[in-house]
Amino acid sequence: MSFHKKDQEIMAEEKLREAQMTPEDSIIRSYYDETAEYYDHSRFENTYGSFIHRQERSILLKEITNIQGVNVDLCCGTGRFMEFACYGVDASSKMVAQAKLKHGNKEFFVEDAANTHFGNECADTIFCFHVFMHLSETKTTEIIDEAHRILRPGGMFIFDFPSKSRRALFNKQKEGWHGASGYTIDEITKQAGEKLRIKTYYGVLFFPIHRLPSWLRKYFFHFDSILCRSIFKKYASYLVIVLVKK
Ligand SMILES: C[S@@+](CC[C@H](N)C(=O)[O-])C[C@H]1O[C@@H](n2cnc3c(N)ncnc32)[C@H](O)[C@@H]1O
Repeated sequence: MSFHKKDQEIMAEEKLREAQMTPEDSIIRSYYDETAEYYDHSRFENTYGSFIHRQERSILLKEITNIQGVNVDLCCGTGRFMEFACYGVDASSKMVAQAKLKHGNKEFFVEDAANTHFGNECADTIFCFHVFMHLSETKTTEIIDEAHRILRPGGMFIFDFPSKSRRALFNKQKEGWHGASGYTIDEITKQAGEKLRIKTYYGVLFFPIHRLPSWLRKYFFHFDSILCRSIFKKYASYLVIVLVKK
């Protein structure tokens, strides 16, 4: 089993990737290149962003018991969750540059999450946050397939996506590519196919916290977190699914 592909192979693939980049990929990459410097501040240094961050981090703390393992943060952005991974992958070199500033001891690769340099069956855990909401179903399937290729049998793939059940409840429309895709758990497990089985799933953000005054939000945290793990969890704004490679 080879851990990384060879240098020549990587260079040839990089060229091919540039040539093959779809308009969808280019738009998303350019957006994050331009956003990189103020991404952390604008998204997570406020009561709404930190609320979501705390809930997602608590899921990773529960599920990733071996943070020293071969763990990959796919679409790592500025490295928000790199404490759980040794490798980060992202299409935006500017986002990766920010991640490197915070995690100098980790390895990063600027590449498409659907076409990485990793060898087959080398990773223990792969996770991917705040990404599938942007992508088409085709791209999402490609990334799930790639994660499956890289994962060792028994390895976990953890990712989030907007809940379609929640959207149906509030008759919420799609909002351009930013919130392009919502799924039910059944749809995602179908997309993952026979090769990955569902271990569990969690909700994130049950209450419309953004509608509350900032000072009030923190008082909802524990109640919201309880609902996100209850029988009502599929109605949370986002779902985090844990799949295991068979
Ligand atoms: C909203 S950010 C999320 C970053 C990080 N996962 C987090 O939760 O903070 C989305 C990231 O996905 C990256 N991305 C989008 N499509 C990608 C693809 N096909 N391959 C690699 N990275 C991609 C973007 O460059 C961006 O950094």
